[in-house]
Amino acid sequence: MLEKLVQEFKKLYGENGEIRTYFAPGRVNLIGEHTDYNGGHVFPCALTLGTYAAVRAREDRTLRFYSMNFDSIGVIKTSLNDLVPSKKASWTNYPKGVMWAFEKRGYKLTHGLDIAIYGDIPNGSGLSSSASLEVLTGIILKDIYGFDTVSMTEIALIGQDSENNFNGCNVGIMDQFASAMGKKDNAIFLDTNTLNYEYAPIKLANARIVITNSKVKHSLVNSAYNDRRNECETALKELQSVVNIQALGELTEEEFEAHKDAIQSPVRQRRAKHAVYENQRTIRAVNALKNNELDVFGQLMNASHESLRYDYEVSCEEIDILVDLAQAMPGVIGSRITGGGFGGCTVSIVKSDAVDTFIAEIGKAYKEKVGHEAEFYVVEIGDGARVLK
Ligand code: GLA
Repeated sequence: MLEKLVQEFKKLYGENGEIRTYFAPGRVNLIGEHTDYNGGHVFPCALTLGTYAAVRAREDRTLRFYSMNFDSIGVIKTSLNDLVPSKKASWTNYPKGVMWAFEKRGYKLTHGLDIAIYGDIPNGSGLSSSASLEVLTGIILKDIYGFDTVSMTEIALIGQDSENNFNGCNVGIMDQFASAMGKKDNAIFLDTNTLNYEYAPIKLANARIVITNSKVKHSLVNSAYNDRRNECETALKELQSVVNIQALGELTEEEFEAHKDAIQSPVRQRRAKHAVYENQRTIRAVNALKNNELDVFGQLMNASHESLRYDYEVSCEEIDILVDLAQAMPGVIGSRITGGGFGGCTVSIVKSDAVDTFIAEIGKAYKEKVGHEAEFYVVEIGDGARVLK
């Protein structure tokens, strides 16, 4: 694919001059959902799917962007003097947002770039195609302008800043962190309160990670996401009147139960309950994995889904159909919605010898119930973002 991308690049922008290439992965989160903006733990891993870029430095301040995934849009031309979000900038709002966030931190982008990209993460599937594009831009800027002191963690934070303050979605740090810091065959146990992290080998002797794409994306995803975040913030303030905490992630389940009446609305109580319990589930799940208790890990995944469905209410009918089908199948260790929600994908751990049946039977039943096909990816865990050459 990289070769094809470089060919496209030359066709569009000419042959002369050094072309550099880059890759940043998407991610799947195994457990710890909607905990990252509540000071809790997450457990994502980088995929081998992701976004590739071919880039060449220019002498003027022009920026040219092209995506093979949005071929019909063609080349979008703009300038470093125009780093403001706009509708017509389409997908280039993501790389432009990262450029804006670098400049805001005092990193001077002294000349323009020609950029061509290609991604193999299914669009809008909740596998972080946008975070991968942000982290990709981060490593491009670090490499091309020689910002050697910028760490991968900072690149993740810059990506999050750009998404929050340039692209208007109040996301946590999980996706950008996973894309920047991923490690082959490992998930990342990240404490989003401190950004301390630990790699945990995913040794699924006789099982695979299967992602199922519902191929639905409900509207208002961003505003619903921001609503959840606001509800948690309000619940935190209410709790702070009775207990000394900075984030919901600091509470154990028992502490939450003892203080929850400080939260004035039942809906906010359920949101906060999810944040607290999901964080504790994540810690437990990682311990279970370390002790080779894959069944316990799977049960915690199932419980995570239940909580996201009823307490946090970020699932939807199509996803619940997929999860119900999966959880009822022999050979399925655990299954849940993954990512921001309101559509997108489920993640399941499935015994290797059951994977074919899983895909065939769930595929058929989903089509019958929902009317369109689901898509299945049996994924590998890959490394984080990197310069290719
Ligand atoms: C989206 C956000 C993440 C995280 C998840 C939910 O993917 O980008 O920061 O909040 O939703 O866990």
